[in-house]
Amino acid sequence: MKILVTGGTGYIGSHTVVELQKKGYEVVIADNLSNSTADVVDNIARITGIKPAFEKVDLSDPEPCRDLFNRHPGLASVIHFAAFKAVGESVLEPLKYYHNNLGSLMNLLREIETHGIRNLVFSSSCTVYGQPDELPVTESAPIKKAASPYGNTKQIAEEIINDIVAVTELRAIMLRYFNPIGAHESALIGELPLGIPNNLVPFLTQTAIGKRDFLRVWGNDYNTHDGTAIRDYIHVVDIALAHVIAIERLQEGKNKTKAEAFNLGTGIGYSVLDVIKSFERSTKVKVAYKIMDRRPGDVEKVWADTELANHELGWKAGRDLDDMTLSAWNWEKKLAGL
Ligand code: UD1
Repeated sequence: MKILVTGGTGYIGSHTVVELQKKGYEVVIADNLSNSTADVVDNIARITGIKPAFEKVDLSDPEPCRDLFNRHPGLASVIHFAAFKAVGESVLEPLKYYHNNLGSLMNLLREIETHGIRNLVFSSSCTVYGQPDELPVTESAPIKKAASPYGNTKQIAEEIINDIVAVTELRAIMLRYFNPIGAHESALIGELPLGIPNNLVPFLTQTAIGKRDFLRVWGNDYNTHDGTAIRDYIHVVDIALAHVIAIERLQEGKNKTKAEAFNLGTGIGYSVLDVIKSFERSTKVKVAYKIMDRRPGDVEKVWADTELANHELGWKAGRDLDDMTLSAWNWEKKLAGL
């Protein structure tokens, strides 16, 4: 079974390629390397012993997208990760986000239809819920107005996919990730932010290794147990494994509707300070931090209801917060050559 993984050299994409290969799938990676490097392909091969086919291609450009599918006939399924994901940047450069994230999706959907491919797994986000009225948040929670153009691209992408599956042979699974963190146990692949990280864990590990002076904790006046904001952190390998299950579900025709959405989280909410404590506990390394004002656009608390994913997909997160913070640290040390 041949599977196209767009964004396959990226953070979640690379971990998913590893799990697909371990299950015997033949993987073709398409990535424009805008936020990753080609040596990820070699590191995947070091883990699995198999080098996936790699195509450097910008999917928002229709011609190269068409050529990609012509060069790789016989694809059974597509997993679409390729997208920009920096929330703050999306506010400053909305057109870049709409053009890339939605343009790529539309080019891809056209080729999927042309080539009669029937299965699509789409990389969505808990950002589609905004600050939910009820916690834990279920898949049927109302989709509120997106807080950023990035979030809006995820909402619109889900709508586009819903419209397409209604009138074609395509079946799709939208996986709504909560906060993926951590790295592969080999420390050969992980999150590789370009420049100064926006996300909590890369900033934390870069502080611990000495690249940053201190971690800024955005606000301690939230209505939570310690005042800092709560998220549902989930190990990237657990997220990767859910993609393999989603692909199998589609390929075996086990899906209940033509487009399904599943939350991918642990179902447990942790505060920023809980994450710092976990890191210090699992690594025995202290992290300097300072409490700052709230970060604009942050929601107070969100965590997943994972019932649907647990029972319907038959998937459950298996790694806890200490596994996540320790693996992130091992990856950061490897990057630093330690
Ligand atoms: C955001 C997006 C999410 C997106 C993800 C990927 C929203 C609501 N969420 O998640 O959709 O998929 O980015 O980029 O837009 N924090 C600090 N100090 C830091 C960094 C973060 O205290 O230096 C705190 C934040 O305030 C937040 C938590 O850590 O409470 C997690 O932040 P982050 O890792 O940036 O992820 P989200 O903002 O939750």
